[in-house]
Amino acid sequence: MNYLTNHTIHFDSAKSFSDVQDGSVALIVTSPPYPMIEMWDESFGKQNSDIRAELDNGEPLAAFELMHGILDEVWKECTRVLCEGGIACINIGDATRTIDNNFRLYSNHSRIISSFLKLGFSNLPNIIWRK
Ligand SMILES: C[S@@+](CC[C@H](N)C(=O)[O-])C[C@H]1O[C@@H](n2cnc3c(N)ncnc32)[C@H](O)[C@@H]1O
Repeated sequence: MNYLTNHTIHFDSAKSFSDVQDGSVALIVTSPPYPMIEMWDESFGKQNSDIRAELDNGEPLAAFELMHGILDEVWKECTRVLCEGGIACINIGDATRTIDNNFRLYSNHSRIISSFLKLGFSNLPNIIWRK
């Protein structure tokens, strides 16, 4: 068996890997920006200006959904490039945040699992690190 692998780096948004063929990837491991963790607001905001507006308007759930809308595009692209039986490993943390005096949890892990289930993936046992 040949264990040699080829490594290439693509500088592109994960929303569209135009030079990666359909069904050509066996394993995806990724740590995307975490929706509603403040340090990633700018990154999401640059990709959809409505996100900043919703945060500024005190509409965090709308911002949360728009952020996940960007990740949903990535998950769709992952589905395209993964081969039959391919695996996607997503490293994500939930977010806790106070906006307008309202402290709450933004459950990123469950939102992402729900996206992948809709795309037809089978959920495998998760590793949940409770900090
Ligand atoms: C939680 S960090 C992960 C950092 C990474 N594990 C590392 O060690 O550098 C999320 C990363 O996703 C990048 N990112 C944000 N939107 C992206 C997109 N549409 N396509 C690809 N990467 C993106 C951010 O710039 C950031 O570097």
